[in-house]
Amino acid sequence: MEKGGEDPEFSYSYYRRKERIALVAIVVLASVAVASLLVAFSYYCYIRNKVLSKRSKSHSTVVDSKDKACCTDLEVATDEGLHVFTFKQLHSATGGFSKSNVVGHGGFGSVYRGVLSNGRKVAVKLMDQAGKQGEEEFKMEVELLKRLRSPYLLDLIGYCSNSSRKLLVYEFMANGGLQEHLYPINGSNNVNLKLDWETRLRIALEAAKGLEYLHEHVSPPVIHRDFKSSNILLDKNFHAKVSDFGLAKLGSDKAGGHVSTRVLGTQGYVAPEYALTGHLTTKSDVYSYGVVLLELLTGRVPVDAKRPHGEGVLVSWALPQLTDREKVVQIMDPTLEGQYSMKEVIQVAAIAAMCVQPEADYRPLMADVVQSLVPLVKTHRSTANVGGCSSFQ
Ligand SMILES: Nc1ncnc2c1ncn2[C@@H]1O[C@H](COP(=O)(O)OP(=O)(O)OP(=O)(O)O)[C@@H](O)[C@H]1O
Ligand SMILES: [Mg+2]
Repeated sequence: MEKGGEDPEFSYSYYRRKERIALVAIVVLASVAVASLLVAFSYYCYIRNKVLSKRSKSHSTVVDSKDKACCTDLEVATDEGLHVFTFKQLHSATGGFSKSNVVGHGGFGSVYRGVLSNGRKVAVKLMDQAGKQGEEEFKMEVELLKRLRSPYLLDLIGYCSNSSRKLLVYEFMANGGLQEHLYPINGSNNVNLKLDWETRLRIALEAAKGLEYLHEHVSPPVIHRDFKSSNILLDKNFHAKVSDFGLAKLGSDKAGGHVSTRVLGTQGYVAPEYALTGHLTTKSDVYSYGVVLLELLTGRVPVDAKRPHGEGVLVSWALPQLTDREKVVQIMDPTLEGQYSMKEVIQVAAIAAMCVQPEADYRPLMADVVQSLVPLVKTHRSTANVGGCSSFQ
């Protein structure tokens, strides 16, 4: 070994050793990095799976064991909770749109009672014809409708739309339309089937709140256009919700140039200025509301050709008597006798009289109507008297 000089052997092995150490360090570090990446990736997958399974749980429905067979294709929910159904699902929910499940017919078509795969009862409105409206346009309208949410408006649960069929799916209202209880067909002789005074007052208030929401709590305001007793639906406890709001655009003119009721409203409920000039404002709805209030007071339909001369049109017959203390009791529904106080009748009659004023500007706002009705609807009410009313359940 040379003293003072660099031993080439030594320096070669020294650097070889260093090189090996560096290599080992690199391999170790790389392995640690790969392992950390693997751990991070697994954790990411785990979290992602959890999120996905939570999301699909909240969107899918709880399957009733009875209906498992029909649940191969569960409804797909859009981001904001409106269900998009397939025609097959609604076909199976309504027993193939069977006649026994028809709960009514209207300007759009038939309404069927149905049960979804999760056991929820629904009302399925099958539109006779979709008019010129395309699938996308229909979907957009429905998307707008679903933004109108209030405890006093009927809940839209979902829809089904393809090129040939359009259906709307609503919450099911066990006691159907108000008109069925004011003018029961099967139980016309049985006064117990008719709604009592307190229930009528509450229905009047709840329906007023529904319209108030559309007119005053939504921007721009929504005009119902077809407010009437059949569009006030009653749940199993006879609480009222307004239905078919904002559907005017979804309707279509009937074939042969005949204008649908959707465009012009329903006979007996249409405000005079709208009928004459087509000028539509929220005050047109207030007029229609006044007509419903008259139906609740008198138990008479808005137009009845079978009535004696001068009594056929409810508004024309009732209006002159509404503000006369003596006469007003004479127009009251005879089945309500003994249930109301004079004071209450005078107040409700005064509200009705203002709502059906021929001059739109003299009609109140729905907020005013609500304010006037609130004190009349007592907090402790019993629905015992209406327990025997006909029910769809
Ligand atoms: N969500 C529902 N739950 C229970 N029954 C309903 C429901 N929707 C409608 N019905 C029943 O179906 C009937 C017909 O309703 P539909 O809305 O089709 O017609 P309409 O109200 O008579 O007229 P329009 O088409 O002008 O609204 C109602 O009177 C009511 O008895
Ligand atoms: Mg309706």
